[in-house]
Amino acid sequence: MENNLPVNICEYQELAKKALPKMHYDYINGGAEDEHTLRDNIAAYGRILLRPRVLVDVSNIDMSINLLGYDMPSPIIVAPTGSHKLANPEGEVATARAAAACNTLMVLSFSASCKIEEVASSCNAIRFYQLYVFKNRDISATLVQRAESHGFKAIVLTVDTPMLGRREADIRNKMVAPANANLEGLMPIDDLDTTDGSKLEKYARDTLDPSLSWKDVEWLKSITSLPILLKGIVTAEDARKAVEAGAAGIIVSNHGARQLDYAPATISALEEVVKAVAGAVPVLVDGGVRRGTDVLKALALGARAVMVGRPVLYGLAARGQAGAKHVIEMLNRELELAMALCGCRSVAEITRDRVQTEGDRF
Ligand code: FNR
Repeated sequence: MENNLPVNICEYQELAKKALPKMHYDYINGGAEDEHTLRDNIAAYGRILLRPRVLVDVSNIDMSINLLGYDMPSPIIVAPTGSHKLANPEGEVATARAAAACNTLMVLSFSASCKIEEVASSCNAIRFYQLYVFKNRDISATLVQRAESHGFKAIVLTVDTPMLGRREADIRNKMVAPANANLEGLMPIDDLDTTDGSKLEKYARDTLDPSLSWKDVEWLKSITSLPILLKGIVTAEDARKAVEAGAAGIIVSNHGARQLDYAPATISALEEVVKAVAGAVPVLVDGGVRRGTDVLKALALGARAVMVGRPVLYGLAARGQAGAKHVIEMLNRELELAMALCGCRSVAEITRDRVQTEGDRF
């Protein structure tokens, strides 16, 4: 087995597909409606070309970055994805240990299948906590406080999910919402409809607060001293509002194309957001990152860091903690090689002129 390890993310995806029940693979892999954005998140990276510079001494490559005051060895971060126990019985604890072994930041999902406390005690890596705001604000506030008191360093407020996107595979498969370990004792977690349609959708409709608005960023700031990043912004207009609202960072994301189909591929929206923010706060991006060259492209277009969602879950499903760790390591090695071959010795040298977008060509 060790001699036949997957050599790229795509091969991990194939292994994950074989390892998981169809319902769970579809849940992880699927996107909203026609899955146009799902395909485009990846395809848009393919439309950006690299402009390598040569005869640069690349014997030492430094991939380190600083995010919100924290030094990190690489700009590749684990995105918040729910229910890791669908991929592996050890769930988020395995992912957190994999991330820690690579000194990588992990963002723990609100919809985690392991408890905040369990994840916090399983490793000492830097962690952020991702938040959904429920109609019952007390539940969200309690979870923010638990994350803060267990050493999480920032809150990632997901702003693209006032309602759950329509994921047709989940509807077809009658996907059961996996238990959110952190809601235990806060609400009846088995309170799920068993009638037709996606149970997940019903659960989300009953819980998520569709009235969430800019003023609620104020509310969140009033209940935590942690910095708040807004995840799910794809326009210059909202990026400016996010800075005005006091966000400490912006994550250009379309939720891995699981929410609004025909939202722009995130790598296509990145530069617009970066220009609007004009350096006021760091901008991160996620969605469709499958290669080290993708990371380099995102950094050239102004991202401070990238987050990866499904690739880590593919690794976890295929080989547990070791698989998740290998996925992160592979992406890091690919980025290192891409930087060397583009003549970039540090992240600061990954400048805009290293990429050619469609806009540059026409
Ligand atoms: C997600 N994502 C997500 N985002 C979030 O803010 N909270 C969550 O609980 C989840 N859950 C979740 C589950 C699964 C199975 C997936 C695939 C995604 C979105 C995630 O944070 C990220 O935006 C995307 O996964 C990035 O796209 P890629 O890397 O999967 O292409």
